[in-house]
Amino acid sequence: MASETRTSARAGDPSANTGFGAELSSEAEPGALPRTQNAPRHAPMGLFTEQLSSTPFLVGRAEARRSWLYRVRPSTEVGDFSPVPHPGLSAWGSHAAPNLLGWKPRPLPLEATDFVDGLTTVAVGGSAADQAGVAIHNFVTSAPMTRRALCSADGESLLLPDEGELEVRTEFGRLVVGPGDVLVIPRGARFAVNPLGGASRRGWWIEVFGAGFALPPRGVIGANGLAESRHFVAPDAAYEDAPGEWTIFHKYSGTLWAAPSNHSPFDVVAWHGTAVPLAYDLSRFCPVGAVAFDHPDPSIFTVLSAPTAVPGRHVADLVVFPPRWDAAMHTFRRPWYHRQAATEWNAIVTGPTSNRVYSRGGSFLTPPFTPHGITPDALERELSGKDDEKPRFIGDGATWVQLETHFQLSVTDAWREAPWRDVDFAGVARGAKVRFAKGGASFHSSDTIPGLKP
Ligand code: FE2
Repeated sequence: MASETRTSARAGDPSANTGFGAELSSEAEPGALPRTQNAPRHAPMGLFTEQLSSTPFLVGRAEARRSWLYRVRPSTEVGDFSPVPHPGLSAWGSHAAPNLLGWKPRPLPLEATDFVDGLTTVAVGGSAADQAGVAIHNFVTSAPMTRRALCSADGESLLLPDEGELEVRTEFGRLVVGPGDVLVIPRGARFAVNPLGGASRRGWWIEVFGAGFALPPRGVIGANGLAESRHFVAPDAAYEDAPGEWTIFHKYSGTLWAAPSNHSPFDVVAWHGTAVPLAYDLSRFCPVGAVAFDHPDPSIFTVLSAPTAVPGRHVADLVVFPPRWDAAMHTFRRPWYHRQAATEWNAIVTGPTSNRVYSRGGSFLTPPFTPHGITPDALERELSGKDDEKPRFIGDGATWVQLETHFQLSVTDAWREAPWRDVDFAGVARGAKVRFAKGGASFHSSDTIPGLKP
């Protein structure tokens, strides 16, 4: 019997159960949630009590994530796991090379494909077995996961759709996310991804190994700005008491396993805790930036960080470049030419789409210290003064996300050889016209900023 009293919460819903890292709770039946303790001898309504600890027991209180679930059947009612061959999933990449790589949008499936079958691993850094690293997978899906559920024992997950809406069913309830949203799923929590409306959908699944996502410290920015805890939306408890044949997929040590189960895993009637799926609408992100001259590093656009014990060396930082105003004087306003210590992976998740890397669904990878920058056309436009000193609105409705990681990523064969790869992408910034003229105009004669002494 399914609970029909709750509907799916949406990213951005101001009336939802909200708070990143907060102690949240929900019950689909009034009185199902124990109020005074976690594990009473007799849980309300004959439910089974289960704890999901998605971080080690002894991490600091601020990092600890665990939830208590009150469910119809314990999740031990499942058979043995067996390895499942999967043509697209991989524990490792095989191409660790220092060249820029770019991909046009992956074509959507023409035949019925569910989320599990539509997965392809893009790149892996570090390893799940060592619990230090990150994996990026792409998914396409056109069919619901029927009597199938999935969890990652390897790491906390991010889902980033770039085509159409998904209803993601979790043990905690249902969340709806679409392009421009991000969904955080705790390590070990079971979920099923269903394309809404039966249409084909696409996006990214990112796993971080040995770390969980946190809101980054704001430093001198102060107490406001960037991502706000209250904009992270949790689901309302929703359950089904449904015996039947299910397959529970379990990603472990980079490979896929599956076990038969005799009931729906989505039978949690009430829950409370801090390990909770959370949806976030990236348009809620409040960016800060330059208002006088020069521009800061992209880290000021960090939405979520998965830090390690070494300060600044993060497993992953999720960065968003939202549509925004850009204001600066006497400044090379485009992204500068640069080489950096981190690996950068970029994807465009909202905006117009076409058969180009720089369109929704496109993505590119920048290995550490591989030079990159703007195209020669953009350089000429910047230097010609056509983009003048006035504030500019940049973004054109497009939302770019970037994953910064201190791991060196290795790309899989499947993704490197994909027909939608743009094999000319590595040269995108080549061809800058040299302007050096010895004895030409000096900095101080050509650039003066009001109020700034040379
Ligand atoms: Fe970069």
